Amino acid sequence: MYPSLAAAKAAVIAIGEEIATFGLPSGICPIVFVFTGTGNVSQGAQEIFKLLPHSFVDAGKLPELSAARSLSQHPQSSKRVFQLYGCVVSSRDMVTPKDPTRCFNKADYYAHPEHYKPVFHERIAPYASAIVNCMYWERRFPRLLSIDQLQQLMKNGCPLVGISDITCDIGGSIEFVNKSTSIERPFFRYDPCTNSCHDDMEGNGVICLAVDILPTEFSKEVGSFIE
Ligand SMILES: NC(=O)c1ccc[n+]([C@@H]2O[C@H](COP(=O)([O-])OP(=O)(O)OC[C@H]3O[C@@H](n4cnc5c(N)ncnc54)[C@H](O)[C@@H]3O)[C@@H](O)[C@H]2O)c1
Repeated sequence: MYPSLAAAKAAVIAIGEEIATFGLPSGICPIVFVFTGTGNVSQGAQEIFKLLPHSFVDAGKLPELSAARSLSQHPQSSKRVFQLYGCVVSSRDMVTPKDPTRCFNKADYYAHPEHYKPVFHERIAPYASAIVNCMYWERRFPRLLSIDQLQQLMKNGCPLVGISDITCDIGGSIEFVNKSTSIERPFFRYDPCTNSCHDDMEGNGVICLAVDILPTEFSKEVGSFIE
């Protein structure tokens, strides 16, 4: 809806200024954005995220950060939080060797994904408010998040509210993203309890973005880049 990338960025900066000035209710904090992968898409998504007041944390620090959530959810807490948190994860945060005597090795994982089991749902997802899925994926690799894993996470009170599946592999690394969405209607709501998708944003579940033609949103800038 914005006439240029600069105008879209200005709108995000304005939201950031509100967060920096008024803060966020501590009961919904820490708000953690998890970015998967470090390639073009991840860097682009992070470029926008960095317009907001933020700190980046290592994946290993997520449990510690989340412990602060439990404390701040005390009913009498009126604390405000003035920033968001970002966490960039790569394949070593997503899988571990099935053989416990072996260490993670990226080249070995890419060659023999069948020797590895998924751990993203245990190590990362329980602490994520939003997952921005930016990584390349093929069917021979374990999924990032399956339907069963999400159902279990939500039962355990996971803070996840949204998934931006920019990679948009239908039924792929995020199993329940089973359709792409349009620029006019970019989101759907996935309810893990009933394993169903909905057009409204009002009920239970996770809001998913699955637009597979995102570069067309910045057609002017793409045009000037090509020239
Ligand atoms: N929705 C859209 O409109 C849109 C736009 C651009 C790109 N994409 C898709 O986004 C994905 C990423 O594109 P990109 O340009 O950033 O690619 P890229 O090659 O620049 O980056 C890919 C990232 O994925 C990681 N990766 C590769 N294989 C992996 C695996 N098996 N497990 C975990 N991580 C792995 C790499 O280390 C790298 O960090 C592609 O699938 C692309 O088709 C979608």
